[in-house]
Amino acid sequence: MNHISDYITSWKSTNPGEPFSAFIYDIGELKRNAERIVASLPSGVKYFYAIKANSDKTLLGTLLPIVNGFEVASLGEVLKVREVSQEAEIIFGGPGKTDNEIEEALRQRVSLLHVESISELLRTNWIAERLGTNADILLRVNLRGPLPAGTLQMCGVPSQFGIDEADIAQAIELAQGCPGITLRGFHFHSLSNQLDALQHAAMIRHYMSRARQWQTEFGLDLRYVNAGGGIGINYESLEAPFDWNSFIRQLRNIIGVESEVGSCPEILFECGRYTAASCGYYAAEVLDLKRMRNSNFAVLHGGLHQFLLPGAWKHRHPFYIVPVDDWLYPLPREEINDLPVTIAGRMNSPRDILARSNNVMRLRTGDVIVFPYAGAYGWSISAHDFSSLEHPAFVYIT
Ligand SMILES: Cc1ncc(COP(=O)(O)O)c(C=O)c1O
Repeated sequence: MNHISDYITSWKSTNPGEPFSAFIYDIGELKRNAERIVASLPSGVKYFYAIKANSDKTLLGTLLPIVNGFEVASLGEVLKVREVSQEAEIIFGGPGKTDNEIEEALRQRVSLLHVESISELLRTNWIAERLGTNADILLRVNLRGPLPAGTLQMCGVPSQFGIDEADIAQAIELAQGCPGITLRGFHFHSLSNQLDALQHAAMIRHYMSRARQWQTEFGLDLRYVNAGGGIGINYESLEAPFDWNSFIRQLRNIIGVESEVGSCPEILFECGRYTAASCGYYAAEVLDLKRMRNSNFAVLHGGLHQFLLPGAWKHRHPFYIVPVDDWLYPLPREEINDLPVTIAGRMNSPRDILARSNNVMRLRTGDVIVFPYAGAYGWSISAHDFSSLEHPAFVYIT
């Protein structure tokens, strides 16, 4: 964290009078984190990065030699990966794929298409046949559950995601009769920001058992079980993170048991948040500090239009203050000491609140507020162009 503060302090002293807002990416941290994750995986497991979390080209280039490939959810994302590598392995999921996306994905040598409905299955077959090719697919399953809870629930509940578990038998039979596709297994991304390692492992055990049942029932050559992403960041309690080591022990156990039954399909992960969150910092300068009745408000040179995550998820995102001593105005400087402050943005919306009533030891106009764990679903999910407000800088620190 010191190197982030140092960067900000030094930037402010060399750019007096320039308001600061930036996403700062610690590329060393991204690399270390991804290497730690991949090195811990048992054999027979592949790790993909879900680029929707952050498709910044520098991040993709950094991850390229570490991960097994990239998970994408649009043709735009396919092309972003192809900009950094013609060879990288790509797997493509998400509901509502267009004909053009399916066609171009096949042309761009996407390795697996995650099929989200029976009509998409038939359309994929039709397109592949027309192109004279064959598409390797996984059926995305929306399990009936029960599944553990995450902050967002894609499956285990009726939703636009995947094929209802009750319709999977029909989908398999149809897939088996389609000459343009080859069914390679199942895809189960069910939830987002799961914090309990044991529950997460139990869910994967459940995925495996369902996939094995369909394998036996339909005589499938089951190559892959994609267990999705969804591994969480405990934003509100960073000292109690998802217990990755326990999770890996459980995963080894699952693979051990499956291997006794017969050859174990490859398990794929496609994690966005867990890969990229820790490398990113969203930092914005306090433009104004005001007292209103008994409340204090700091207004940032930024806001939810740049960093929507705390607003979208309604969690208490951690932050810290980088004091900036330079003050160039011949005017008094606002300051609060040991008081709660609400951190707001400049979107002209009362909803533009990044942190509510947090006690701060000292905060002055011109200081910079830093939100760590902003590397995933920060800029990528925000309404950048709202009100034609300026964009932040993007800074890469190694
Ligand atoms: C299909 C799919 N896979 C992977 C991910 C990545 O999830 P996470 O960032 O929670 O790991 C998502 C995110 O929504 C997704 O929809």
